[in-house]
Amino acid sequence: MSAATGKNYVVEHMEPEMGAWSTLEYIAIASETAAAGRGSVFYLTSLQASLAADLPATLTEKLGESFVATTKDVETLSGVPKHRVCLLDPQAEKTLAPEDGDVFDWFVFGGILGDDPPRDRTAELRKYGYTGRNLQKLQMTTDTAVRVTRIVIEEKKKLDEIPYADYPTLQINKNESTEMPFRYVKDDKGTPIMPDGMMELIKLDADKSLEDMF
Ligand SMILES: C[S@@+](CC[C@H](N)C(=O)[O-])C[C@H]1O[C@@H](n2cnc3c(N)ncnc32)[C@H](O)[C@@H]1O
Repeated sequence: MSAATGKNYVVEHMEPEMGAWSTLEYIAIASETAAAGRGSVFYLTSLQASLAADLPATLTEKLGESFVATTKDVETLSGVPKHRVCLLDPQAEKTLAPEDGDVFDWFVFGGILGDDPPRDRTAELRKYGYTGRNLQKLQMTTDTAVRVTRIVIEEKKKLDEIPYADYPTLQINKNESTEMPFRYVKDDKGTPIMPDGMMELIKLDADKSLEDMF
């Protein structure tokens, strides 16, 4: 099942639904995996049957050779040699490094929405017994964690060489701003990289919570 040449990024979906935030994050991972063009595959695993049968169209249109969505969990995907799997785990003792690309072909992430403070739901994935690696201390969104792992493993950059935006403040409108409690990668212009459509979604959510207050 794995691509012969590329690395495999597995996101175990752990939310009860496929919310708008998760959908945008998964589209970003699928698009970046395909665009990298290195024969990598993104597996979105552990989908409940009802979810798998009713994925948002914006996500299913990305399905193909480099994006597989399945009800199986990472343990039951065929062709996954356990000793070549790395769990990206904020609590792991060792930090991910470029040479881990020689040791691992499979990288597993929690398909978890970030929370503040972090509740360590990644703990649920430790049951598989994979070797863990952290991406340093700060909590990243799932798409950021995959992006950073890809940069370290495929571009062979050290974590400290990556430009980050930590806890960026986003301007919602003329009067309001919100601080995102995550670490992001910065693009060439110094802007935190977020999935397409995420900024609009954050603004909508902010407007909604304001309406709910009145
Ligand atoms: C939004 S984070 C979830 C963190 C969450 N608060 C928790 O309960 O574990 C989603 C996934 O990205 C990966 N991740 C995020 N930040 C990380 C870090 N600093 N080190 C290692 N993995 C990280 C982990 O695989 C995690 O399950």
